[in-house]
Amino acid sequence: MFVVMVAPECAPAAKAGGLGDVVFGLSRELEIRGHAVEIILPKYSGMRYEHVWDLQRSYEDLRVPWYGGAVSCTVWFGHVHGRKCFFIEPHSGDNFFGRERLYGYDDDAMRFAFFCKAALEFMLKTGKRPDVVHCHDWHTGLVPVLLYEQYSHELGNQRVCYTIHNFRHQGLTGPEVLAATQLGRPEHFLDPDRLGDDHHCHTLNLMKGGVVYSNFVTTVSDNHADEARHGDSGFGLGHTLWKHQGKFGGVLNGVDYGVWNPETDPYIPARYSAWDIERKYENKEALRDRFLLRKTWSPLVAYVGRLDEQKGMHLVHHALFRTLDAGGQFVLMGQEQKHNGINGHFQHLKDHLNDNPDCHLELTYQEELAHLVFAGADLLVVPSLFEPCGLVPMMAMRYGTVPVVRATGGMRETVFDRDHAPHEFERRNGYTFHQTDNQALDSALQRAIGLWFDHPADFRFLMTNAMRADYSWAGPGHHYVNIYEHIRHK
Ligand code: GLC
Repeated sequence: MFVVMVAPECAPAAKAGGLGDVVFGLSRELEIRGHAVEIILPKYSGMRYEHVWDLQRSYEDLRVPWYGGAVSCTVWFGHVHGRKCFFIEPHSGDNFFGRERLYGYDDDAMRFAFFCKAALEFMLKTGKRPDVVHCHDWHTGLVPVLLYEQYSHELGNQRVCYTIHNFRHQGLTGPEVLAATQLGRPEHFLDPDRLGDDHHCHTLNLMKGGVVYSNFVTTVSDNHADEARHGDSGFGLGHTLWKHQGKFGGVLNGVDYGVWNPETDPYIPARYSAWDIERKYENKEALRDRFLLRKTWSPLVAYVGRLDEQKGMHLVHHALFRTLDAGGQFVLMGQEQKHNGINGHFQHLKDHLNDNPDCHLELTYQEELAHLVFAGADLLVVPSLFEPCGLVPMMAMRYGTVPVVRATGGMRETVFDRDHAPHEFERRNGYTFHQTDNQALDSALQRAIGLWFDHPADFRFLMTNAMRADYSWAGPGHHYVNIYEHIRHK
């Protein structure tokens, strides 16, 4: 099969979160299975170009219809660690992608509407006729809409799989997007059966467009698919998902063990496997050196992820102090988001804790350093309020780092409580809690830290359980191929 991914991220060149890892890892898995994959991305100025190899101009002067005229683009081609990627660079006064960050601008809806239109124009002009187009999150919700409403004559009956990584951001925007993309007819598209948002008047919901117009819709775990359909986790899209439930389901993400693997990891000083897990200790030493933590016999607890309300930041804050009280060390590596108050809070905390030799707060996300944190930490806290999949604990487990997570979304399918889970003992790989208050977190974190201090052999057992769990792309890759086959022949 020939699959074209249209996506806002592909790790490690353009990554704001797990979506980037998924686009890369799934594409690689599909290629291993013998399918051809090409990825279309915006050409962001803020990309990590050291991860894009042999970048070259591939198509000059792609003219993308926009409002009454056209915007000229250059399309570039390069390899991101082996994946074939096309990058769209528009030459317009709006400078859509020539900015520092990937997202978080007032005109994001317009920027990605343009990207969708340009991706299709590129497929059209270069004669690309994939068997399946796979789109990701609200940014690409307009792809199936445009395909059906505008390009079906020229591009034929393209099949689209649409994956939702985060329901919280749906791409709400005004009808000007219709004029810009030349879709026109606001009354048609504002209909609540199409893109009309259910909760805001006269507003288009680009993610809803993705759901309504795609042939199949997935989110990144089964459990989250249920949560989104039934509860608040759909952030207002529950009704739409319910209506389209025949073509909606969950597929748990995989982890790319070609990238996240302590046996081969080039970013850690000591490589190890479940068989020689004592070498993990050398990485712990290296992590302590790197962050100037006092050396002592103590458990090292980490948080890695965006500094976003979604991640339960008040509980992260609490976990930090609880760990220090219990005689542990704490490392936080958090990506700041668009100014949201949380940044300021953690900046303040960082200043406040500056002299504390048992903790370190790193307020940027650095991919290479994340490898060392996973390899060096004993425990990882992920107290998310909601979590569609939760790749970070899955990655950490591969490094024998025991997760302490809130049982929500995908994490309910991947982390099983050592003391309470119904699973056989070998499958229990971490600690879970349910509520969103400090006591709930304490109930899990205290058990974890207690085991580390009082029963080191049992803790080690838990580490190896975590390492042996298989969260590779093999299963999910197979699942996606079945979905593609299913929609191709429908
Ligand atoms: C989003 C979700 C996260 C998921 C990731 C990849 O970032 O919040 O749970 O793992 O997408 O699908």
